[in-house]
This record gives sequence, C-alpha cells and structure tokens, in this order.
Amino acid sequence: MLENVRTLVVGVLEFRNLGLQIGELMFANRLPWLLTTGCCGGAMIAGWLYLGTVNLPRIQADEPQDQDSQRQQSAASTNPQKEAAGEVEAAARIVGGTQCLDCHRSEYVRWKRSKHATRAFDLLGSTASARRYAEALDIEFGEVAASNSLCVQCHATRQIRADGVARVLPGVSCESCHGPSGGVDGWLNTHSVYGEEGGTRSDETKEHYLERKAKCGKSGQLRSEHIYELAKACYSCHLVNNEALVNEAEHPVATQNFDFSIKSLGDVRHNYHLDQQVNAEVATLWLDPLWHGERRTAAGRKRLMFVVGATVDLEMSLRALARATDEEGDYCEAMSERVVDAYELIEEDILEEVGDLPLLEKLLETAEEIYTKLDDEEFVLDDDRQACVDAANAVAAIAREFAVKRNGNQLDALEEPEVPDEE
Ligand code: HEC
Ligand code: HEC
Ligand code: HEC
Ligand code: HEC
Repeated sequence: MLENVRTLVVGVLEFRNLGLQIGELMFANRLPWLLTTGCCGGAMIAGWLYLGTVNLPRIQADEPQDQDSQRQQSAASTNPQKEAAGEVEAAARIVGGTQCLDCHRSEYVRWKRSKHATRAFDLLGSTASARRYAEALDIEFGEVAASNSLCVQCHATRQIRADGVARVLPGVSCESCHGPSGGVDGWLNTHSVYGEEGGTRSDETKEHYLERKAKCGKSGQLRSEHIYELAKACYSCHLVNNEALVNEAEHPVATQNFDFSIKSLGDVRHNYHLDQQVNAEVATLWLDPLWHGERRTAAGRKRLMFVVGATVDLEMSLRALARATDEEGDYCEAMSERVVDAYELIEEDILEEVGDLPLLEKLLETAEEIYTKLDDEEFVLDDDRQACVDAANAVAAIAREFAVKRNGNQLDALEEPEVPDEE
C-alpha cells in the first residue's frame, strides 16, 4: 500500500517535471509542433503556465569603466538624457534567460528556483505594502509593473524588442547580473566560441582566449572574474538609492546585512559550468587552472568576495548618501549609518584581522574624512555632497584594483564565508 502511494507520488512528480521540461524546451526552441500534436495535454498546460511566468532581464556594465545604469546612477551624473539613452540601449540588448537554456540548462533550472525568479516580481502585485508604496508615489497600482515603472527597475527586467515594443520580463534574470547580451556585437555571440572553426575549450589558443574575453568585456559581459562589478550589480538593487521611495513610500532602504559572499553563495549559487551535475562552491571557470594556474582556491574566492563586497558596500552607500536632499529624512539617516558601518567593517573586521593590506588602507584613507564627519556628527549634506562623490569614486578605483589583482590567498586570517545549504 505504502509502496503504491510512493510510486504514485513519484509518478506525479515525474509527470510534472516532464511537463516543465517540455515547457522549457517549447519556450526555448519555440517548437510549435508540440502545440499542434495535441496528444500531450499535461505538457501543454505546463508549457502554457510556464510561458506565463517566463522572464527576461536588464543592467549595463563595462570592463574598466564605471557602470551607472538607471538603478545605479551616481550622484556625479549630471546628464539625465545620456542616462536615459543608456537605459534604452541596454533594454534593447536584453535577450532573456530562455536564450541561455540550450547551453546553461543547470544554471537555468537553479535560477528558476531562486527568489529572483519566484518572488521578486510577485512582490509587486501580491502585497498590501506594494499598493501603499505605489500610492505614496502617485503610481497607479495597476501600473506598478508597466515598462516605465520605477518598481520594474529592481523587481523585473525591461526589454525593448527589435520592433521597438517595450516589454517587462518578470523577475531578476541572467542579464540583470551578467549584463545585456544581445545585439550584433553583443557578448552572447562571442562568449562561447573558442576559435575560428569552433573547437573546444582545450583547443583554444591563449591569443584567442584573451581576444574573446576582451570582446565580451567590451560589450558588457560580467563574468565570474568581475567580482567587483558583480557585487555592484547586487548593490544597485539591494541598496535602494531612491530617496522618495524610502522617505515618502517607506519602502525598505536596503536588504539588511546584505553580504555579497553569503548571498551569492546561497540563493544565487549556480556554479555548474565545468560539471553540469554539481553546483560547485564557487565559480568553476574562475577556479579552473587552464588559464589561471593552480593558485586559486574556493576558500580564497569566498574571502575575496567578502572583502570586495564590503568595499562595494562602502562605495555604493557613499553614492546613495550623496543623492540625499533631505538631511532629516530616513533615507539620509540610513545611508549615513551604512557608510559608518561599512567603513568600520573594513577597518575592524578586515584590516585589523589580516594586517598588511596596503590597498585597503589606501581605500579607507580616501573615505576617512567623510567617515569622521559622520561619526562626529559634523557632516553637512549640502557642503559635503561632492566630497562623498569624490570618495566613492576613489573607493571604486581601489576596490576594482583589489578585486582584479588579488586571489584571496592573502586573506587567510579571515573566517571562510559559509555556503548556506541549498533549498
Ligand atoms: C551556444 C551555447 C551558449 C549559449 C546560448 C549561452 N552560453 Fe554562456 N557559456 C557558454 C560556454 C561554452 C561558456 C564557457 C566559456 C569559457 O570557457 O570561457 C559560457 C560561459 C558563460 C558565463 C561565464 C563566463 C565566465 O568566464 O565566468 C556566463 C556568465 C554566461 N555564459 C552567461 C550566459 C547567458 C546569460 C546566456 C544567455 C543570455 C548564455 N550564457 C548563453 C555557452 C553558451
Ligand atoms: C532600487 C531598487 C528597488 C526599487 C526601485 C523598488 N524596489 Fe521594492 N524591493 C527592493 C529590494 C532590494 C527589496 C527587498 C528588501 C529586503 O530584503 O528587505 C524590495 C522589497 C519590496 C517588497 C517586499 C517588502 C515589503 O515591504 O513587503 C515590496 C512589496 C516591494 N519591494 C514593492 C516595490 C514597489 C511597489 C516599488 C515601486 C513603487 C518598488 N518596490 C521599487 C528593491 C527595489
Ligand atoms: C543575481 C545575480 C545572478 C543571476 C540572476 C544569474 N547569475 Fe550567473 N553568476 C552570478 C554570480 C555572482 C556568479 C559568480 C558565482 C561565484 O563565484 O560563486 C555567476 C556565475 C555564472 C557562471 C559561471 C559559473 C562557473 O561555474 O564558473 C555562469 C555560466 C552563469 N553565471 C550563468 C548564468 C545564467 C545562464 C543565468 C540565468 C539562467 C545566470 N547566470 C543568472 C550572478 C547571477
Ligand atoms: C535587478 C535587481 C536585483 C539585482 C541585480 C540583484 N537582486 Fe537579489 N533580489 C532582488 C529583489 C527585488 C529580490 C526579492 C526580495 C525578496 O525576496 O524579499 C531579491 C532577492 C534576493 C535574495 C533572496 C532574499 C534574501 O535576501 O535572501 C538573495 C539571496 C539575493 N537577492 C541575492 C542577490 C545577489 C547576491 C545579487 C548579485 C549577485 C543580487 N541579488 C542581484 C533584486 C535584485
């Protein structure tokens, strides 16, 4: 009896999985024949449900330049028109996660289970607080998910199709973190081609490898080696740098205690690339000795992610503070506190533990004046705004250098960030 129930349950689960898989394939390959065969009702329904929830994404990034997309406008930015043009260009290059499915099935399936795919978008429609936020900002509740909605910047992905039609792809998707990939010169077409005649990874020449990476970087791909830029992508949403949203609507000001290492190693983790069966602790392509030698370790990467995350937190909090206009508001107060906390985390939990890290010492020096003023309650928003921007820019340059030059092995004194259990 028990055995029969078990078989039935397993059978139902497998049927559901089959439905989902066929649904994914249908969507990915747009196989119309599946729709017309008509013999596969369960799969069709699953496929249809799937179509209803499938996502696409956004964000902009570049190799060495600072990336300021709509979510992460720096306070230094004085050209809203240029900014808007950049957003449109980025949205036009979004192809959507299903374009990745053929080659990144495991990553896709893992992502599909993450809160970015299951929750981020639904929050907009399903909670009383969403209605409150919208009302406070005079956004029609029915418009929170429209393509020009503020909310969509972080809870979904804006896409502009070739015919100019703007669409909203629910959720935070591959390209929200890895950069828009489409277009003639987009990295989608380049990033997996190992040579003129195709070939495999191990056949690729060093010259081709370097050229490929440079091209992908130029068209805005954020890959595992771009630790600084990836962390910045997270903070561009998880730190809510919009004063009205916080002060008037009372939307959360940030995800509290957002630790880039732990958060990436948890819900987001999808490090399947070199072994499609195993979700490795850290990105396998970053670790792979093929181009990097034997010196990189998973522990080193996790520590490096922790430290780089802390530096990006400081940078982004400084930028957010510089955007404040109301010194008495919750937003300004919260961002001031964040700057102080991020500074002290680097000083006490990193530098004091590790000791000799000249780059990080230099980084703290650039933010010391602002930190001291905030700590002594001598900070005056209107007088110190530009100094915040300058400090953020200086912190950014050093943080990036640190992320590129270090492999984390010199951070042994730090506790190794723990990978949370997979759900
Ligand atoms: C035609 C197959 C194919 C498609 C389609 C594809 N990828 Fe890839 N992707 C690969 C291969 C192969 C690699 C490994 C490249 C290497 O060895 O450097 C890779 C690597 C990556 C990496 C990691 C690069 C690194 O060095 O850390 C990211 C990120 C990535 N792909 C994202 C995407 C996204 C997002 C999409 C969809 C928009 C996508 N890929 C579509 C084949 C593909
Ligand atoms: C700058 C990015 C950003 C923007 C813009 C944004 N959100 Fe959010 N939102 C977030 C993040 C990050 C969280 C998660 C916060 C946390 O972890 O506590 C969140 C959480 C929420 C939640 C769940 C928390 C709660 O209070 O119930 C709702 C609902 C929500 N947002 C609605 C909206 C609406 C509606 C808008 C537009 C008026 C909007 N958000 C604009 C980033 C953003
Ligand atoms: C929330 C941000 C985020 C989203 C969404 C996201 N990624 Fe990633 N991705 C990352 C980060 C961060 C890393 C580096 C992870 C690490 O070091 O542990 C990464 C690493 C990768 C790698 C390299 C893995 C390896 O083993 O080297 C590939 C490939 C990849 N992502 C593809 C994708 C695809 C395809 C999607 C969509 C289905 C996707 N990513 C969605 C943030 C994201
Ligand atoms: C486009 C905006 C956006 C980007 C980029 C983004 N997130 Fe999120 N993230 C969200 C929203 C919105 C939620 C939903 C909040 C919730 O579940 O309460 C969320 C939820 C999460 C969650 C689950 C809730 C939690 O706090 O545990 C994790 C973990 C997470 N994000 C980590 C990351 C990491 C790591 C990165 C960067 C590699 C990243 N996110 C990039 C918007 C974003």
